[in-house]
Amino acid sequence: MSGQSPQLILQQLADELARHDALYHLHDEPEIDDAQYDSLRQAYLELAKQYPDAVPSQGPHTRVGAAPSEGFQKITHAFPMLSLENVFSAEELRDWVEGIRHFLMELRDPCVAIHFCCEPKIDGLSCSLRYERGVLISAATRGNGVEGEDVTHNARTIPAIPQQLIGSGWPEILEVRGEVFMSDADFLQLNEDQDRAGARRFANPRNAAAGSLRQLDASITQQRPLRFFAYALGEISETFAQTQSEIRAKLAEWGFTLNEPAQVCMEQDGVLDTLKGYYAMLGARRADLGFSIDGLVIKVDRLDWQARLGFVSRAPRWAVAWKFPPEQAMTQIEDIRCQVGRTGRITPVAHLKPISVGGVLVARATLHNADEIARKDIRVGDSVIIQRAGDVIPQVVSVQLSQRLEGSIAYNFPELCPACASALRREEGDADTYCPGGLSCPAQVQERLSYFVSRQAMDIEGLGEKNIALFIEKGLLNSPGDIFTLEEREADWKDAEGKSLPLLKYWDGWGAQSATKLYEAIRRAREPTFDRFLVALGIRQVGEATARLLGRHFLNIQSLLDCLDRALDGDEPSRAELLAIDGIGESMLKDLLDFRAEPHNRQTLSALLNAATPSTEPLLKVQEFQSPMTQSPIAGKTVVFTGTLERLSRSEAKAQAENLGAKVAGSVSSKTDFLVAGPGAGSKATKAAELGVHVLSEQEWIDLILGNSDSGTS
Ligand code: IVH
Repeated sequence: MSGQSPQLILQQLADELARHDALYHLHDEPEIDDAQYDSLRQAYLELAKQYPDAVPSQGPHTRVGAAPSEGFQKITHAFPMLSLENVFSAEELRDWVEGIRHFLMELRDPCVAIHFCCEPKIDGLSCSLRYERGVLISAATRGNGVEGEDVTHNARTIPAIPQQLIGSGWPEILEVRGEVFMSDADFLQLNEDQDRAGARRFANPRNAAAGSLRQLDASITQQRPLRFFAYALGEISETFAQTQSEIRAKLAEWGFTLNEPAQVCMEQDGVLDTLKGYYAMLGARRADLGFSIDGLVIKVDRLDWQARLGFVSRAPRWAVAWKFPPEQAMTQIEDIRCQVGRTGRITPVAHLKPISVGGVLVARATLHNADEIARKDIRVGDSVIIQRAGDVIPQVVSVQLSQRLEGSIAYNFPELCPACASALRREEGDADTYCPGGLSCPAQVQERLSYFVSRQAMDIEGLGEKNIALFIEKGLLNSPGDIFTLEEREADWKDAEGKSLPLLKYWDGWGAQSATKLYEAIRRAREPTFDRFLVALGIRQVGEATARLLGRHFLNIQSLLDCLDRALDGDEPSRAELLAIDGIGESMLKDLLDFRAEPHNRQTLSALLNAATPSTEPLLKVQEFQSPMTQSPIAGKTVVFTGTLERLSRSEAKAQAENLGAKVAGSVSSKTDFLVAGPGAGSKATKAAELGVHVLSEQEWIDLILGNSDSGTS
């Protein structure tokens, strides 16, 4: 952690997590997979535990949907909790089935039927329950798949989770996995209650379930209407079933609720009809289930096949999620209004007759730009189909022309800015329309300042949209630099007429404490990281990812500015230096240079650099998550397969070897430990003989990995 303060590293991690949270929860466009996200989070939590004083006040623990996890104990899962690969069409499903048939030798015969247990895919969060002698011992969230958070106290408050199994025949150790979720009706009710209590609404049932389960105070969880469906096993001390459907039957007997409707479907000779039928049936019933599902889960029913199929990275080969397309609904456009963004870009927004789409009340949809409205001929009063994919801002898919109101007129894009009445501009070849008002446009000032203080930028707590609007209205804030001089100017604050204003603590709704807190937050923001600072400047196209690229390259802001200045003076090597950064192209460079060339920006920037000192510390690179290989007779060995294997497909043999910690190579060398040779082995066997490499038959290999012999592990 060479030279960087824990505070800085924690802040960077929190920042990074916040960005991924937003990508996942708000935009549904994750850049990293769950495992990578979890390892990032893990890194944060471990450091936070070590340096509790350095934990940022707006860390991942303060966000809805993310846990106050520092408070939770860890539980290591006896078996890792996996995620699922997705398919989106019958064709992709066919490919997946083909893969299974290829992997298991005996399934290469298309006449052999494969039975699949199909279940709805619930949108909640997974949880692993451990029972010993029929008694609930612990409950853990998925966490990073290997280690989760101990939510035992919380799980005990969920009625659908048995504290004691009923019936008989359960194994001494039984881990049951399933999904904690909230029904749509309960979710709507909870949000109403949140409104009444002045608390924050939850974005969707999944967030509500996650936020409710991961509470440090179990009495809060108890008040939340959580449910649980069981769908898989973790560790078990004895087997009690041969198929997934038998597991389900037993779990139901022992007191668990199952996700219904489930169905055993099959595939034979490439015919997927029963699977497609189930997909269609579930899709048709989706809206009436009472809880959100985002597709179905298809699991190879036979457990022995499941075991042999195993998993690739974090997902099983024996199960897949077949996702539904985004949910749609029909509603009416009541109005179209234009919003002015931070850069002056005008976004037309449809104000809709509110409608519930997949459990979420939707009242607005983006219309993108003038061309989009013209292309779809979207008009006020039109009935439209809107869709929501995950949590993304809803979009208008199409207009129901047959229902168009008589006398409706095409939408006229405004010519003047709705906020400052400047004449709007649209350049040739640009789809977007802009307000040229800059800082004289109140909407842009508001947006720009809100962006400047937002979490991904300077992260100044206490300066939310409402307060910024208030300070702007009183004439106290105009540009970002003003934020840092607010406190020192306080005694001289004057309103527009030149009348003295009272100190902040005497304002309506403020007090000594909130004023002090705000000033403290502003003071803390005087030492931002390089990338936050750069993001906060709001240069077009320079978001967090680009800021980080520039941060890694230049290490401090002054070197970047110097380089831009030289490039502006026509210095080719400086231009080349910028373009050589992977991820920076001509158009981004143009935006950087345009920003730097603007005199007003120079002014703002130097005011800012007087007030704040961006750090010069290199940004943290996060290590990837790696699960160490276990001990096994072949751990660390290099294996080569050759000839025809009869009992194992090449893929199964390779996967098995890798799972046991061996490396599988394509050719024999002095580094090879074993050559597994089936009939027809050629030059590789000859070479192995020359080099004295241990040669095994397929059977000897199977015995070796099963531990049935001592075939030369020495
Ligand atoms: S089986 C190894 N069955 O979906 C098998 N998972 O996207 C993993 N999920 O992490 C779980 N419904 O949280 C299974 N019927 C179902 C499910 C289900 C929802 C969740 C689960 C999993 C995630 C993967």
